[in-house]
Amino acid sequence: MANLFSSLQLRGVSIRNRIAISAMCMYSADEGMASDFHLAHYGRFGLGGAGLVMIEATAVLPEGRISHGDLGLWSDRQIEPLARIVRMLKAQGATVGIQLCHGGRKANRQRPWHGNGPVGNEDQALRGEAVWPLKAPSALAFGAGYQVPEPATYRDMTDIREAFVAAVARADRAGFDLIELHAAHGFLLHSFMSPVTNRRSDAYAGSFEGRHRYVLEVVGDMRAAWPRERPMFVRVSAQDGVEGGRTLTDTVAFARVLKAAGVDVIDCSSGGLAGHSASTSRDAPGYGFQIPYAEAVRSEAGIATMAVGLITEPELANETIVQGRADLVAIGRQALFDPNWPLHAEARLGVVDAANPYASWPVQYGWWLNGRHRTLASLPSRRD
Ligand SMILES: Cc1cc2nc3c(=O)[nH]c(=O)nc-3n(C[C@H](O)[C@H](O)[C@H](O)COP(=O)(O)O)c2cc1C
Repeated sequence: MANLFSSLQLRGVSIRNRIAISAMCMYSADEGMASDFHLAHYGRFGLGGAGLVMIEATAVLPEGRISHGDLGLWSDRQIEPLARIVRMLKAQGATVGIQLCHGGRKANRQRPWHGNGPVGNEDQALRGEAVWPLKAPSALAFGAGYQVPEPATYRDMTDIREAFVAAVARADRAGFDLIELHAAHGFLLHSFMSPVTNRRSDAYAGSFEGRHRYVLEVVGDMRAAWPRERPMFVRVSAQDGVEGGRTLTDTVAFARVLKAAGVDVIDCSSGGLAGHSASTSRDAPGYGFQIPYAEAVRSEAGIATMAVGLITEPELANETIVQGRADLVAIGRQALFDPNWPLHAEARLGVVDAANPYASWPVQYGWWLNGRHRTLASLPSRRD
């Protein structure tokens, strides 16, 4: 029976344990380029024992960036700084993925700490951040004060699809082990899938097939461009959580289609169509509340899943795997709080060798920490 520390084989890639670091935008790139900050930031997770490190939402086109600080893979010059991160993480034994994204009507937003709203004249004056026209399935703004997007033409849709494929080729050149398509949280692909945001009257709308046609075309082209021996994930919002939106039943049906299209793992988030994704909203209902989505998709569509959202305790993470509710658990904010979470989880769950408790730590640390462990054990207990 698998547990949190069992390896996972996906196509030709073996992930050392079931702990993934969830994709998290750092809003810190310049013209889409990864920097020293990104190397240090992601490097901490590789050193911290994560099985899979998913690099944040990375824009396939400059106008698809969620913020001016998003990473990008729309240009060859963006490959090498990412390749450096990939090399560093692989040297630490981690598997490395990248999430590819187009923000659609939710693109061109302020960094959270600059307001988290639409980029406007003030951002332009203060930081030189330009406002660009947005594309979406229909001319429906994300909310009050947000730009009304232009409905994507067939030409736009083809260009964006081709940009996803070009980014896949660049991800391959950067050495990534796997790719994840971001089809959640109200961004472009999710907004095609939901009847709330897709009011088109063409073949890409209306029925379940129509609304999912575009994302399936993108998935098909990406899968064809990505090496057969390497896995592909798709992140979905398992439920829109708004009236008239997609439900878990739609997601299960969609997961079956994705499986047939060669997708290996469904990463089950939720919400984001009309506000924050559900798990980063203050109204998130409780620890691990999205695990039931991963469980339903796994059992009903017969495809591997990743569970995410307020999984903070090693016991819950381990149970999720042991009980077969998901194949991977993704940790987001808890990994910002503790980049060594996987190593600490191992100790907490008691799966370390008592005589050599730091064996899984980077050797540069583990040797010393084992020595310190012996020293501490030999001291009289501390009196405070
Ligand atoms: C700083 C930050 C940035 C995020 N950026 C992304 C992103 O790039 N792509 C994505 O799919 N989700 C993103 N999310 C959502 C996380 O991947 C994750 O689903 C969410 O934080 C819930 O997990 P947690 O409770 O463990 O943090 C982000 C969350 C945070 C906190």
